[in-house]
Amino acid sequence: MSDKLLNGQVAVVTGGGRGIGKAVSLELAAHGAHVVINYSRSADAAEALKKEIEAAGGSAETSAFDVSDSAQVDEVLKALIKTHGKIDILVNNAGIALDNLLVRTKDEEWERTIAVNLSGSFYCARAVAKTMMKARSGRIINISSVIGESGNAGQAAYASSKAALIGLSKSLAKELASRGVTVNAITPGYIETDMTSDLGEGATEGILAGIPLGRLGKSEDIAAAVAFLASPHASYITGQVLGVNGGMYM
Ligand SMILES: NC(=O)c1ccc[n+]([C@@H]2O[C@H](COP(=O)([O-])OP(=O)(O)OC[C@H]3O[C@@H](n4cnc5c(N)ncnc54)[C@H](OP(=O)(O)O)[C@@H]3O)[C@@H](O)[C@H]2O)c1
Repeated sequence: MSDKLLNGQVAVVTGGGRGIGKAVSLELAAHGAHVVINYSRSADAAEALKKEIEAAGGSAETSAFDVSDSAQVDEVLKALIKTHGKIDILVNNAGIALDNLLVRTKDEEWERTIAVNLSGSFYCARAVAKTMMKARSGRIINISSVIGESGNAGQAAYASSKAALIGLSKSLAKELASRGVTVNAITPGYIETDMTSDLGEGATEGILAGIPLGRLGKSEDIAAAVAFLASPHASYITGQVLGVNGGMYM
């Protein structure tokens, strides 16, 4: 019997195959969880990560679904619950940023951003809530963003989706607390991933000037916070917004 913190637990990480999600999957697996690596487009990355986790002695599987498709989410998560008998940890990490100035933002960009970032998290949380309530334990961790707290020019849709995710987290925290399920949000600052790869040289310098700790974040910085919130050490923490942002927003 392993004495790892998350031994025997089943964790679903949406968008778990690359970027921040990849670091989260690796970290939860390193702590002993069986990780379900969700992807929508990046099948190769998810399969490669599954192999990487297994080579390190961990346990993982891949699972294809689009978080914005409520019927697909219900079907796949129901099947996963049937296979494993439970889901202990849900990390709503899948997200997109379709940035544009307000007057240039198309309806489709607004709708798609809300559909993936907000509705996707809602659908996944709803799909796992019953099994967690029945088990009288569970962890839902929503990856919001510092932009949801501070707002940002050119990111109206993204900021709205991420701010709403905080409202969703707090409401679910209140609703599920009596059943032993905690719900928290993490608000990353600027993290080096594909999402932030085309900021441009000047933009990065400008961003760095606003980060007291003087560096961009790493996916591992977020993964460590997720693992903490998923662990028994965080059993008395719910409805909170944990900023992992180098101090750029306080
Ligand atoms: N990077 C940052 O600075 C930063 C800051 C604050 C918050 N965040 C948040 O952190 C999360 C991860 O960001 P990241 O930087 O790692 O982004 P990323 O590198 O662009 O990766 C996005 C992830 O989301 C998945 N995804 C996108 N649409 C999906 C859908 N409809 N269904 C299922 N999965 C979907 C992608 O999987 P597929 O390729 O398979 O579609 C991918 O794994 C996002 O929610 C983002 O908003 C990031």
